[in-house]
Amino acid sequence: EEAQLEARFDARIDDGGFIEAKDWMPAHYRKTLVRQISQHAHSEIVGMLPEGNWITRAPTLKRKAILMAKVQDEGGHGLYLYAAAETLGTSRDQLLDALHTGKAKYSSIFNYPTLTWADIGVIGWLVDGAAIMNQVPICRCSYAPYARAMVRICREESFHQRQGYDSLLVMMQNGTDAQKAMVQDAVNRWWWPSIMMFGPPDDQSPNSAQSMRWGIKRISNDDLRQKFIDATVPQAEVLGVTLPDPDLQWNAERGHHDHGPIDWAEFWRVVGGDGPCNRERLGARVKAWDDGAWVREAALAHARKQTQPLKA
Ligand code: ACO
Repeated sequence: EEAQLEARFDARIDDGGFIEAKDWMPAHYRKTLVRQISQHAHSEIVGMLPEGNWITRAPTLKRKAILMAKVQDEGGHGLYLYAAAETLGTSRDQLLDALHTGKAKYSSIFNYPTLTWADIGVIGWLVDGAAIMNQVPICRCSYAPYARAMVRICREESFHQRQGYDSLLVMMQNGTDAQKAMVQDAVNRWWWPSIMMFGPPDDQSPNSAQSMRWGIKRISNDDLRQKFIDATVPQAEVLGVTLPDPDLQWNAERGHHDHGPIDWAEFWRVVGGDGPCNRERLGARVKAWDDGAWVREAALAHARKQTQPLKA
């Protein structure tokens, strides 16, 4: 009977169909989704930290309001994604425990520091730009609860990308020389980590082949990276910044930009826990969890009271 269920599942996937939470699915499909969705959720939550660093120092009321809204959106994205992962039968406590004990991964990009205000604009432009490129295809992921969560997330990400680009345009067009230099410096620091976000090259990506077959991933790591680079080069020109890659150039034959070698040793070091801010990020998450213990306890005590009959 298991073989029959699996054949039906495969046929539905081959047909471009969607799988719902209560449908039968192979154990490995479930495990892959819990892995990817929970890593994605953790990335949203940890991703609040580098930007949260600048909320109190935003240069104007308008920029502060935008930044607070964006950071709150990221908290919301984390919650939709934890909820999507929970539909696969893993509890939120289990997922968070894996994050807090350092067993679960989250995106490498959030282990880099936000040194100046220009970093906030560049995160919107490059980091959220890369996130959208990666996430739009997930709106068609074969696991429907994940796909549905991604639709709303992508709409919000696109606002995040545009607010970042807009704040950089203001600095580049109306700013002082020092402000323009600050933008260029931020671009220089974030460019390479941003293109690493798409993950290892296809031939070194252990999960890609199976995830592509199952329609969890629709476009490969390298193809998404290429699409991102091609989209970003003209945006950099409009902005008036250079990208820190001397080998970056249009290849008319391929119809794409060629780029220089990516430092994969740095990528694996950061993924492995040894990036510039890994300890700080994880420490901040664990502290937030511990500091919030009394809120969870109070909420549980309140919930218990609601279910107990009132004493006369
Ligand atoms: N940062 C940290 N770890 C990474 C990264 C990265 N940028 N890229 C790949 N990895 C990890 C993978 O999680 C995998 O580890 P695991 O097997 O222990 O889980 C390993 O490196 C090998 O990579 P792949 O085989 O290519 O893994 P996968 O097929 O899962 O592809 C990808 C990685 C593209 C990130 C995919 O999981 C994905 O699309 N996830 C959803 C999007 C997401 O998480 N975005 C987070 C950043 S965007 C944001 O939050 C604003």
